Amino acid sequence: MSEVAIRVESLTFAWPERPPVLQGCSFAIPKGQLWMLLGPNGSGKSTLLQLLSGSLTHPQPLSGHLEICGRLGYVFQNPDHQLFMPTVGADVAFGLGAEALAWAEIHRRVETALEQVGLKHLIRRPIHGLSGGQKQRVAVAGALARRSEVLLLDEPTALLDPDSQAELLRCIRQLVDQEGITALWVTHRLAELEWADGVIFLSEGRVRYQGSPEQVRQQLGQLFGAFRSH
Ligand SMILES: Nc1ncnc2c1ncn2[C@@H]1O[C@H](COP(=O)(O)OP(=O)(O)O)[C@@H](O)[C@H]1O
Ligand SMILES: [Mg+2]
Repeated sequence: MSEVAIRVESLTFAWPERPPVLQGCSFAIPKGQLWMLLGPNGSGKSTLLQLLSGSLTHPQPLSGHLEICGRLGYVFQNPDHQLFMPTVGADVAFGLGAEALAWAEIHRRVETALEQVGLKHLIRRPIHGLSGGQKQRVAVAGALARRSEVLLLDEPTALLDPDSQAELLRCIRQLVDQEGITALWVTHRLAELEWADGVIFLSEGRVRYQGSPEQVRQQLGQLFGAFRSH
């Protein structure tokens, strides 16, 4: 059995004075794989990611467990909400500020992380001149510099053009294959599934299907087929 990086067991969560948005969700994501979390708007994907990231602590889940093995990194939908510094290198270094590291170590980590996302040549470039896809890769590099082993990405391509979308998917796929990173990628685009090792389909707070992209696509096909117009 492969090691599990993200485990969710019978998780039920409700926002205050609302019916539960997550109801008995269970899944396990093996280490070193890219999984997609798919579901319509309002199905609870972002809530689930916030709970996994530890950024949502109030209220507590009504029941169930969450477990993440390894240091976490988070990538938002809008790159402009997570890049703060004037240049690419400074931004990647920014997240290391809390750690007591020698300057040489910071420099080494920033260079290595940018190399891993294919942007080392932009280290001195101003952030504002980058494409959306490049900005998202800078955010990923920030997480890698902090030695994140598990990446949570919440619709990271939602605001990107098709070229940038493909570029980010390729980047994450490569990090998973070559660096052993585990990634959970939220999407509502069926076309992105083909990049994944596994898919979880969430609807109205419940895990309806989980499995290989092919299996989930078939199950969704049956679902859509049942409502085909005549
Ligand atoms: N901070 C919040 N307070 C109260 N309700 C929220 C909050 N965030 C999300 N919700 C509600 O939880 C449900 C699921 O939202 P969300 O997790 O954002 O879904 P998704 O990311 O799949 O679109 C929605 O009905 C939404 O209105
Ligand atoms: Mg969302």
